[in-house]
Amino acid sequence: MKALTSKHLPSTTTTLIHRAIVGAPDWWRDAVIYQVYPRSFADSNGDGIGDLPGVTAHLDHLVELGVDAVWLSPFYRSPQKDGGYDVADYREVDPLLGTLADVDALLAAAHEQGLRVLVDLVPNHTSSAHGWFQEALASAPGSAARDRYVFRTGRGELGEEPPNNWLSKFGGPAWTRVTEADDSPGEWYLHLFDSSQPDLNWENAQLHAEFEQVLRFWLDRGVDGFRIDVAHGLVKAPELPDWTGRTTTVTGRKRRPNLTDEGPMWDQDGVHEILRAWRQVVAEYPGDRALVAEAWVQPIERLARYVRPDETHQAFNFEFLKTRWSVPQYRAVITESLEANDSVGATTTWVLSNHDVVRHPSRLGLKKAGSFPAGIAATDEQPDEHRGLMRGRAASLLMLGLPGSAYLYQGEELGLPEATELPAEARQDPTFLGTDGKEIGRDGCRVPLPWVADAPAFGFSPSGASWLPQPASFARYALDSQLGVPGSTYEMYRAALHLRRVRRLGSGSLAWVVGLAGTRKKKVLAFINRDVMIVMNLGAAALPITPGCAVLITSRRLGIDAEGRQTIPRDTTVWLRFGS
Ligand code: GLC
Ligand code: CA
Repeated sequence: MKALTSKHLPSTTTTLIHRAIVGAPDWWRDAVIYQVYPRSFADSNGDGIGDLPGVTAHLDHLVELGVDAVWLSPFYRSPQKDGGYDVADYREVDPLLGTLADVDALLAAAHEQGLRVLVDLVPNHTSSAHGWFQEALASAPGSAARDRYVFRTGRGELGEEPPNNWLSKFGGPAWTRVTEADDSPGEWYLHLFDSSQPDLNWENAQLHAEFEQVLRFWLDRGVDGFRIDVAHGLVKAPELPDWTGRTTTVTGRKRRPNLTDEGPMWDQDGVHEILRAWRQVVAEYPGDRALVAEAWVQPIERLARYVRPDETHQAFNFEFLKTRWSVPQYRAVITESLEANDSVGATTTWVLSNHDVVRHPSRLGLKKAGSFPAGIAATDEQPDEHRGLMRGRAASLLMLGLPGSAYLYQGEELGLPEATELPAEARQDPTFLGTDGKEIGRDGCRVPLPWVADAPAFGFSPSGASWLPQPASFARYALDSQLGVPGSTYEMYRAALHLRRVRRLGSGSLAWVVGLAGTRKKKVLAFINRDVMIVMNLGAAALPITPGCAVLITSRRLGIDAEGRQTIPRDTTVWLRFGS
């Protein structure tokens, strides 16, 4: 077999898709941003729930790993019905997680160590425990307090039917009826998520002013930006029409066919005005504060609307996260992502895992590799752990070689798999609770991190407590069992982040390599970014490398063929020095 080379390529074999940034980019354009889910990161006081002092105490891990910034999932006062995405006070810290002083300490420590910090902004809904909602409940229909939310009279003669047929993403109708002050059955309020998460009414001008103050409160404290939760859901179509089309709502079906939100409650033009206003607010502050939108919209051109020059700086690229284990699909999604974002002058982001989806090594360990179960139960097909990890590592090394900004989810640097055997009593995700367990939910990717193999709760908590039980296999994944171990997932991430930084791949270019020896179009993905050639082999045939091509990093050990050449095995990504 002819060998793959990273030297002297004929120009006919490359197609330039994306140009490198000239000069120093804005920090977020090539940043690697690490998502901390505070409940599950590190517990400082032994109550089994991760907290802000726990994050501060482990910032050195993130510096060592080599990321640029941290995004903290919500730590605000909350009844914790949805892991803190049910906010009862946007300016207070939940006592479970710490205090405002702890936030200040975290910000100071992070900044001192050169890390930026993004916090979560949850503007689509509040918790039903929020003062605004309590005030709305105590006030009459038609009052200003009710207008902060989406209250409507029901259908049917006595208003006994919900105002429309929308369903909650967590199961059941998206409407709940209230009892009025005089004990009569009253209006209904909209909640696209749990009934404890009433949707705010973004037609209300006062709300805009109130939220701007919330942004300023955190900007003044020194946060470097916001991740905007459910950015595509803030505005609903006028008249709230019924919807019978495709839905991502939990229906008790095990497999979700598609994760894109469609219908009159999503991706309405009005959301862009809100994002524009917030962009102006952050732009007033020094230090390049940034916004990233969570918007499950399709196609990529639609998502690009969120990152036009006067809107959010970034949006999560969920199309990349959803890509099946297929070279043509990766090639297509990478090309489309770069083209769509380039067309509006935005940077492309890449993401494989977060707190809402099955961890990527486990998704890639399923028979249908890269398919999208909405959680994995003990009774479901179990991922092949070894194969999933090998593929997960290959996917990560592909992602980190791409130009743009990458989002990591805590624990992926350890190669953590999804916890699939959590007992029902332990599960806490509202999707599990709201569907009587028919949908298993997201707890499996939220299990507290293993830091030390041989310590109570694997070093997560000094008392050994853990709000979700950790599988015994986490010992193998613990940070201390990977530190300094050549070939460990942690050392692979660390080395990749280092190379990515020194070779400036985040602000680099992308040119596809096609038709090169051995690079079969459907099985080998190869591209050049600055002076690095990144090759991912998904084919059964090991791919020999021309002797003399310098291997910078690999996602698994390379083989050797009969002629003594190094070979890239199946499901492996390598970075080669290009042009030498
Ligand atoms: C976002 C969050 C998710 C949460 C939902 C409702 O999708 O990422 O965790 O449940 O919003 O706030
Ligand atoms: Ca704690």
